[in-house]
Amino acid sequence: MTIRSYLIIASAAAALAALAIAAPVRAGGDKIAFPESHEAGVLFTTVDRADNKQFREFYASAAALDAAKKGEPLPSGTVITMRQYAAKLDAQGNPEKDANGRFLKGNLIGYAIMEKRTGWGSEYPDNVRNGEWEYQAFKPDKTVNTAANLGACFNCHKPLDKQDYVYLYDKMKAAAK
Ligand code: HEC
Repeated sequence: MTIRSYLIIASAAAALAALAIAAPVRAGGDKIAFPESHEAGVLFTTVDRADNKQFREFYASAAALDAAKKGEPLPSGTVITMRQYAAKLDAQGNPEKDANGRFLKGNLIGYAIMEKRTGWGSEYPDNVRNGEWEYQAFKPDKTVNTAANLGACFNCHKPLDKQDYVYLYDKMKAAAK
């Protein structure tokens, strides 16, 4: 075999391997249906993101907040909904602030969801898997945002394994009744 044909075969094999890793993550996200009733849960905190000029709202069930308060993993069936809004900008393009110094919400630009259910995640290798969590992104019209990189969701949340892969675990704890 020439070096050139070896390289072509090797790079094709690498591309296939990358697909094999990306594909299950993409399919896993399809388990998540748009959480139509998220507003019936608790709006447990909001976050101003200066880096991408977003204002975000976070919703979860009272049962999930109760589990966080006890320091337990969140129960099967937990859905955490992030509503992403563009921050309102001033004439210079900087986020406007309210009397408390918080961003003001402009247009809804999307949703990021994480959901866990007993048995989910078992098809992933350990270096990908985040317990029983799956991730999905939706557009403002509630259809799946197929441009989202769901592998990145797993990757960035993975270091939070001591608090069930949830960044805002302490905010959930604080919001429990
Ligand atoms: C680069 C790191 C990063 C990536 C990639 C990422 N997240 Fe997060 N995520 C965060 C951080 C940090 C927070 C805390 C809230 C904030 O800053 O907006 C968060 C919070 C969340 C929350 C609220 C629960 C929690 O963990 O606090 C959900 C739901 C969520 N992300 C879903 C997703 C989804 C779905 C994706 C992929 C489409 C994703 N995230 C990708 C960093 C990330």
